[in-house]
Amino acid sequence: MPAAGLKTMPWVAQRSGWEAVLIFSCVSLCVSLPLWRNRDSLIKKENARRTGGNLVLGKLEEQVNQKLMCLKEAEVVEAMRTGFFPPSMHFFKAKALIDQSAVFNILKKMPKGGVLHLHDYAILSADWLVKNATYLPDCHICFFPSGDVRFKFSQCHPPTDVPPGCSDWLLLETYRQKLPNVTEFDNSLLRNLTLVTDAPEVTYPSQASVWSRFENVFITASGLISYAPVFKSYFYQGLLELYEDNIQYVEIRAMLPPVYELDGTEHNKSWSVAAYQEVTQQFVKDHPDFVGAKIIYSAHRNLNLSQIKEAVYTAMALRAKFPDSVAGFDLVGWEDGGKSLWELKEALTIPKTLGENLPYFFHAGETDWEGTPADNDVFDAVLLNTSRIGHGYALAKHPVARKLTQKLDIPVEICPISNQVLQLVSDLRNHPAAFLMSEGHNIVVSPDDPSVFGAKGVSYDFYETFVGIGGMSADLRTLKQLALNSLRYNALSPDERAKALKIWQKKWDEFIVLVSEEI
Ligand SMILES: *[C@@H]1O[C@H](CO)[C@@H](O)[C@H](O)[C@H]1NC(C)=O
Ligand SMILES: *[C@@H]1O[C@H](CO)[C@@H](O)[C@H](O)[C@H]1NC(C)=O
Ligand SMILES: *[C@@H]1O[C@H](CO)[C@@H](O)[C@H](O)[C@H]1NC(C)=O
Ligand SMILES: *[C@@H]1O[C@H](CO)[C@@H](O)[C@H](O)[C@H]1NC(C)=O
Ligand SMILES: *[C@@H]1O[C@H](CO)[C@@H](O)[C@H](O)[C@H]1NC(C)=O
Ligand SMILES: *[C@@H]1O[C@H](CO)[C@@H](O)[C@H](O)[C@H]1NC(C)=O
Ligand SMILES: [Zn+2]
Repeated sequence: MPAAGLKTMPWVAQRSGWEAVLIFSCVSLCVSLPLWRNRDSLIKKENARRTGGNLVLGKLEEQVNQKLMCLKEAEVVEAMRTGFFPPSMHFFKAKALIDQSAVFNILKKMPKGGVLHLHDYAILSADWLVKNATYLPDCHICFFPSGDVRFKFSQCHPPTDVPPGCSDWLLLETYRQKLPNVTEFDNSLLRNLTLVTDAPEVTYPSQASVWSRFENVFITASGLISYAPVFKSYFYQGLLELYEDNIQYVEIRAMLPPVYELDGTEHNKSWSVAAYQEVTQQFVKDHPDFVGAKIIYSAHRNLNLSQIKEAVYTAMALRAKFPDSVAGFDLVGWEDGGKSLWELKEALTIPKTLGENLPYFFHAGETDWEGTPADNDVFDAVLLNTSRIGHGYALAKHPVARKLTQKLDIPVEICPISNQVLQLVSDLRNHPAAFLMSEGHNIVVSPDDPSVFGAKGVSYDFYETFVGIGGMSADLRTLKQLALNSLRYNALSPDERAKALKIWQKKWDEFIVLVSEEI
């Protein structure tokens, strides 16, 4: 179809509308050309297979769908005219455009259900860390020659343990007093806590370089977040940011590093889980229309085999102690640069050998490299009875593994912005989830590390999925199905799940009324 034709084509903003156009244009042709006879039914058949393709919308939902698709069409046509299509651009450059999008504005208001793939120290906008955490008393900073910084709260001024290669610890309060321009300095701290830059392709010339900075951001943030008073308010504010993005529930991949007090005392993992639990309970008390949070304990895949074995035992112990809060176990870190599931099988089969159940939520196949150990992780995750697959970016290339995930009803957590920033794909129209969605493979949409990417909540990833990956084939049914998937493929107990569904359904109905009145 020539691009010029597209601009003037009477797009009808709805899947059934599309079909109406197709039927219309086919009527006269079909009579003379039997070759087109099945065209309509073929397209219909394929549309029924897509994510949400079998959902039947109510009358008001249909109206909202038409309006939503009109808005999307207008934005796509405009992008074809200007050449700036946000999902085809790097998120750091696209964000300002997305913020102005009417479609995005609706997605923000949409109740999105659960966010099931999100990391502990990347939940809340880095702004908060700079403006609130670094302004607390007793916050120290040290500077590496490379420009990196580290933070530490301590009652000793200065603290005694300087990280190798870092300057002496300086009390931030006095350091700021001597600065000519504190705003400028605070902006530099913000840059230390995210990957955001004006020219990502220059700043991060390779995947190894972006991953190295990515992990460094977590280390920098941990000096602030692991301080006990910050730890609790970070999580509370993080839940608030998710709640404000119309998310009802969250599962956090948490590494549970030691949380420290002002006098240097360090807490163990049980303390951290108890803290997560306590903050969640308080948050739910303050916001009864939020369902809660669960923890997926996650070890770094670069640890050696005996350390991973220990982590597996720890996961089982934590789950036994906090059955309502600890959902299971995962491995995190760069898959291409770290150990594969196969290399760690001796540790990961321990629960089975002991006759115990430890639910797994493995990151698997977060790679572009076909046929490598990271690529084969999609098989091993399934063989290890994973409950979901994190990213599953490689899954589209593996029909046999995919057949298994379909059969065993294992969903894939897709994280479009993460995959783009971490350089698996540049134009999100080419994200492999497009293929999974066309096949109706069960997926959920997740943000992975929104604060590090300069995003917030999961709405930006929904935008990329809805507008870029799903294109003009994705409609309100797709969105509703994605929300429903997140309420189904989670670690909630049946009772909790029923409650979550009820809360979500009420919000969904309100959302439909709101949008039908607004646009
Ligand atoms: C964070 O700091 C800002 C600026 O100082 C302040 O306005 C805001 O209330 C603080 N937020 C919280 C949650 O403490
Ligand atoms: C991190 O902060 C330091 C101190 O202000 C600054 O020199 C450095 O450029 C910042 N790093 C980045 C990536 O902006
Ligand atoms: C301080 O820096 C900010 C950010 O770079 C800038 O907008 C502002 O004008 C500067 N203020 C002064 C007084 O120089
Ligand atoms: C963690 O510390 C608490 C006391 O602070 C202790 O009771 C508990 O046994 C410790 N847990 C582990 C797993 O070491
Ligand atoms: C694993 O790493 C730990 C900590 O660095 C070390 O003490 C241990 O010897 C290592 N074990 C093996 C088998 O390499
Ligand atoms: C697979 O994991 C699920 C969820 O943890 C569990 O209920 C089931 O028993 C496991 N199946 C096997 C064969 O281990
Ligand atoms: Zn992740």
